[in-house]
Amino acid sequence: MSTTHSPSSGEEMTAEEAAQLSPEEAMIAGAEADGIYIVHRRERFPIAGTKAEKRAERTIATVFVIGFLAAVAFIVVFCGAVPYEFKLPGAGNQNYRYFTPLLGGLLGLALACIGIGVVLWAKWLLPEEEAVQDRHDGASDMTQQILGAGTLVSGFEDLGIARRSMLKTTLGLAGGALGLVPLVALVGAMIKKPGRGPGQSLFHTPYGPGVPLVYSDGRRVSPDDLQPGGIATVFPGVEGGVKNSDSPTLLIRLRPGQTVKARKNQANFGWGEYVAFSKICTHAGCPASLYEQKTGRLLCPCHQSQFDVLQDAKPVFGPATRSLPKLPLDVEMVDGRQYFKARDDFPEAIGPSFWERP
Ligand code: FES
Repeated sequence: MSTTHSPSSGEEMTAEEAAQLSPEEAMIAGAEADGIYIVHRRERFPIAGTKAEKRAERTIATVFVIGFLAAVAFIVVFCGAVPYEFKLPGAGNQNYRYFTPLLGGLLGLALACIGIGVVLWAKWLLPEEEAVQDRHDGASDMTQQILGAGTLVSGFEDLGIARRSMLKTTLGLAGGALGLVPLVALVGAMIKKPGRGPGQSLFHTPYGPGVPLVYSDGRRVSPDDLQPGGIATVFPGVEGGVKNSDSPTLLIRLRPGQTVKARKNQANFGWGEYVAFSKICTHAGCPASLYEQKTGRLLCPCHQSQFDVLQDAKPVFGPATRSLPKLPLDVEMVDGRQYFKARDDFPEAIGPSFWERP
């Protein structure tokens, strides 16, 4: 028969005797058997159901409800109830940029509310307790294991789950909704296709027929601006065009004698000795802007992809596998001076590859 020594009584306790104890008695006896002495233990609310206890419960339940609402809002936003490309006043063409922060904020709020609620539950409703413990070696015998189980049960009873149905419900709601979040993210990502909403933002830039090319300060770009072999970063001259992340375009003036071997159906995209390519690297989206004018090589500094401008920005070295998209150029006269404009948008999507390219 396994026994354990109860320091408070000084007597050995059998497994049968231990099994007769209430969870709280077992917890205290088990703690003492392990050399843990509870020197102070007090219920926060010795009389159950007082106004103060109910107020504490309601406050914690409110925190859980906020967590529940935040998790549900995350799911609703993720599923597209908030327009995927909604626009805020003054946001120009950056009409989708608040989507991800919104998801992050709601998920953070849901997690924070559950965490704060659990901490408040422990601080406000669990019994106050101070204990000191002796250290000892060796495995526990059966009696100690039973007493240890009593400790767990007693701790669970201290939570008051059975009689605190409001907290149980609200925590269950918040935890359940939060539990759905990874599922929704997994399944939703397979359902929702990027760029399929209004405007198809992943497939189009602000360029279009007649859109002027401008520098970052808004000045229009003229063919007279560049020396042979020179380059300039230009943008679409529309509202928000300079800030748009897929707008940066590299305008290149070839050196005398250099020609571009154009890809199919794009032979007339250049203008004179000028060609224009998207500056966004097709590997991982860095700006490819180191131009070696003698060889016509364009280098992306991030992972050393090289694009041969004389072969229509075809990748010739490094991890990029797709040519830089080419912008169809044209020129118009304004006040007796020539200025560049786009004949149309880029014919393909900008930047790194993703599935279902058109
Ligand atoms: S982003 Fe350009 S090489 Fe990787």
